[in-house]
Amino acid sequence: MKRIFLEVEKMIPGGDAISYYDGKAVFVEGGVPGDRVEVEIVKEKKDYLVGRIRRLLEPSEARTEALCPYFPECGGCQWQMVDYSWQLKFKRDIILDAFRRVGKMEQVPIGEVVGMDYPWHFRNKAQYPLKRTKNRVLIGYYREGTHHIVDIDSCPVQLKQFDPVLKGAKEILKREPLTIYNELKHYGKLRHFVLRGSENTGETLIVLVVKETAIVKTFAEKLQALDPERIIGVVENINPKRTNVIYGPRTRKVLGRPYYMEKVLGKSFRVSALSFFQVNVKQVTKLLEFMRSILGDWYNLVIDAYAGVGLFALNVADRARVVIGIEESTSSVKDAHENIGINNQFNVEYYEGKVENILPTMGSPDLLLLDPPRKGLEKEVIDFIIDRKPREIVYVSCNPVTLARDLKILVENYDIELVQPYDFFPHTHHVESLVFLKLRS
Ligand SMILES: C[S@@+](CC[C@H](N)C(=O)[O-])C[C@H]1O[C@@H](n2cnc3c(N)ncnc32)[C@H](O)[C@@H]1O
Repeated sequence: MKRIFLEVEKMIPGGDAISYYDGKAVFVEGGVPGDRVEVEIVKEKKDYLVGRIRRLLEPSEARTEALCPYFPECGGCQWQMVDYSWQLKFKRDIILDAFRRVGKMEQVPIGEVVGMDYPWHFRNKAQYPLKRTKNRVLIGYYREGTHHIVDIDSCPVQLKQFDPVLKGAKEILKREPLTIYNELKHYGKLRHFVLRGSENTGETLIVLVVKETAIVKTFAEKLQALDPERIIGVVENINPKRTNVIYGPRTRKVLGRPYYMEKVLGKSFRVSALSFFQVNVKQVTKLLEFMRSILGDWYNLVIDAYAGVGLFALNVADRARVVIGIEESTSSVKDAHENIGINNQFNVEYYEGKVENILPTMGSPDLLLLDPPRKGLEKEVIDFIIDRKPREIVYVSCNPVTLARDLKILVENYDIELVQPYDFFPHTHHVESLVFLKLRS
């Protein structure tokens, strides 16, 4: 295969490092902008090349030693070889790139990415696949792009309280007569070992995803004994399908509570096994504080589209006559109803269903909160905005590309007051952005 010399130019959305050769983009696996490298071309396509680094001739000043012993085998983090302050810079560059290329927008006020003071032990959700070998049980993450498990005993990005549970669970499982799922044969029961929890409340919830009901109370008790103070519940989620989707539709409580509690800005949130919650609570707290600082004092009607268990809705409810949350997950809506009661915020109402179906049936809010999944806004949502013209919009996005695509349309009627990015996912290429839009008068 052909070898070439390159200087890596930049990171692009999706987290790849690229350079150019003979007018073609070259994806440099594991490259860091500023690296001078000799790469072997391992794939040649009409529009691009893929290169594997054979010699690092001069490392970029952005390079650092990865802290995690499982990096880069474990596919969880992609950027541990990049110094944290440079990660923040590269994430901002990714947003700028998406706004220019996809949004065709040049003059957008984009702030610096707000990073973490200590970018470790922040992730409050771990979903591990498992495998049983002759005399061990492996629990860990898939090696990037494969289904080979990298067995881990600890993880520097997950909540510290998860480490002893992970290690202890392997020992318990070694002796347990519980079969472990084999995805090729669609045989065995335990499919995923999931930990969710909160540093603020100290609670941990164990979710065991099984092909068919299999978790007995005595087994759950052994798991709970690993950290009886923190482990407040063990549930099983039943996923009988031959699929890569982790969760099935049904969840059964085996022990304790089927949810954990989280606390953000003085509000309490119940979070069940299948409900969404932001994985980096320290960073979403900063985002919410900022959001409150830029919002007005009073709104008649706020609509929180893609509302989860009510994190945004409940954090703006003191500034509104009515807040309507729209959310498709039954589990999240159930939690949201509880959270309305727990926080005595009875001006918040919830509708269960798809935003694209429910939003068009509503009147015009004076504030619209949007926090869609990676694919961004559906056409119906954009049409609703163009038609009803909410005065203010806060669009929170985890995907700069779909954000830029949607903003390209919205800027015909709205001014972008600011774009404030946050690092919710240190050591990965992911970046969260808050965009504040005001209707042009
Ligand atoms: C990124 S989360 C945001 C949740 C909330 N803003 C928070 O911070 O906790 C997106 C949420 O939208 C929900 N969702 C995804 N697609 C949806 C759709 N088409 N209609 C309604 N809800 C949807 C998901 O279940 C998830 O709870």
